[in-house]
Amino acid sequence: MALRVRVCTLADIVPGELRGFLVENVTWPVMVTTIDEQIVAFPGVCPHDDVSLVDYGVREDDIVRCRVHGYRFDLRSGVCEHAPGLQLRRYRVSLVGDEVWVDLL
Ligand code: FES
Repeated sequence: MALRVRVCTLADIVPGELRGFLVENVTWPVMVTTIDEQIVAFPGVCPHDDVSLVDYGVREDDIVRCRVHGYRFDLRSGVCEHAPGLQLRRYRVSLVGDEVWVDLL
């Protein structure tokens, strides 16, 4: 069974920008952005070394780069360019009216 949480509304999303949203009882904010008008959501923590992507993540084309050690993650696949064993999780996204929900599990 999915653990689905409400993250934000469509009006909170700026196309092409990274935004982090706090979700009650979730440790790391949920990051939300868009690629080709599709919403992409992922945990706000770098899988390399548990650093906040709210503070250190930067969008570069379809990549999020963590500024701490420079690792880059493909937002479509989650694959890390520098360490293929590292994966940026992406959450399944669903819309309920204008509300953006993600499946944490
Ligand atoms: S903590 Fe993000 S690249 Fe190392």
